[in-house]
Amino acid sequence: MVHRAISVHQRDGEPARRRLVREGWLDISLRPKTQGDRLYLPVHSNTPEDLDIEVAYEWVTTVFEERHRKPTSLREAPGLPPELASEVTRSMDVIGDVAVLRLKDDIRPRASEIGSALMEVHPRLRAVAIDDGVHGELRVRSLTIIAGEGPLVTTHREHGMELRVDLEHAYFSPRLATEHRRVADQVMPGERVLDMFSGVGPFTVLVARLAQPSQVHAVDLNEVAVRLVEENARSNGVDELVTAHSGDAREIVPGLGVFDRIIMNHPHGARDFLDVALGASRSGTVIHLHMMGALEESDEAADEADRTASDLGHGGVRVDLKREVRTYSPGVLHWCLDLTVLE
Ligand SMILES: C[S@@+](CC[C@H](N)C(=O)[O-])C[C@H]1O[C@@H](n2cnc3c(N)ncnc32)[C@H](O)[C@@H]1O
Repeated sequence: MVHRAISVHQRDGEPARRRLVREGWLDISLRPKTQGDRLYLPVHSNTPEDLDIEVAYEWVTTVFEERHRKPTSLREAPGLPPELASEVTRSMDVIGDVAVLRLKDDIRPRASEIGSALMEVHPRLRAVAIDDGVHGELRVRSLTIIAGEGPLVTTHREHGMELRVDLEHAYFSPRLATEHRRVADQVMPGERVLDMFSGVGPFTVLVARLAQPSQVHAVDLNEVAVRLVEENARSNGVDELVTAHSGDAREIVPGLGVFDRIIMNHPHGARDFLDVALGASRSGTVIHLHMMGALEESDEAADEADRTASDLGHGGVRVDLKREVRTYSPGVLHWCLDLTVLE
């Protein structure tokens, strides 16, 4: 198809192009072309005949190649209504080269269309998967690939660490990045740290990299997670500081001695292990207790920690901070209580 255009000498090309752009006359959906010393600039049909562009030009009609500009955000993806694009963007996490989405039931029938649009908009994605939540004792995610290809094993960057994650077989959430950093920033040189429910090791590796702990012990029931803690400690150059243990914290922790800091990031189960953590504490030990529940339940958890500490011969616990980490579901929050064990 032929288009309306002006032809200018190549040496006048840049001022002519700039002038056409400024007036909104250049048709940017078409690619300008050169022939000999002439440059052909495609213009819109409503461009006036008597152009004042301060360089010599001629009117022509000729053929141009279409530009294929790729959409750069989901809102520009062809066929997806903008409100759907916003909802998908809000519910999406990008972990390494994998996008993970939570989709409401009413938009699930459009899953593969959404997956393909995401792959087009974010060319570095290798796969897009729907997240049906975290389940069971090992807190493993149910994922279904809707575009691209697995396996859903990838390398995620967080606070300068490179973490190998296996999204289908061991827990990881990029939404905890702020909490990982908040805890790691509190660690003082020489501390002996226990990461009681380590997952693939984001707390463990960050503490070992950022602070100068004497040792970090990581424990997890999930063997896949423990193998990844070891790999992540090695690849981030902190394997000499980290010891990973595979198994039940209730059985393993009593054999590990006393700690200066204990991270209990298992919001659905950590409260049941307060006696284990307090058994591995001294006066002054800091415990980061993660839990799920309403505001009253976080108060109850603090009372329970205080009672358990007293039962074990400590002088109770002091609540230094109660922090909402994130909203889990309406009315249910993920809390972190920073507790100090008292003499
Ligand atoms: C929420 S995930 C941990 C997340 C990790 N701290 C992070 O920041 O990514 C909870 C972890 O607790 C582990 N877990 C559950 N019960 C356990 C137990 N009895 N002993 C040790 N680990 C356990 C699960 O396998 C899971 O990896």
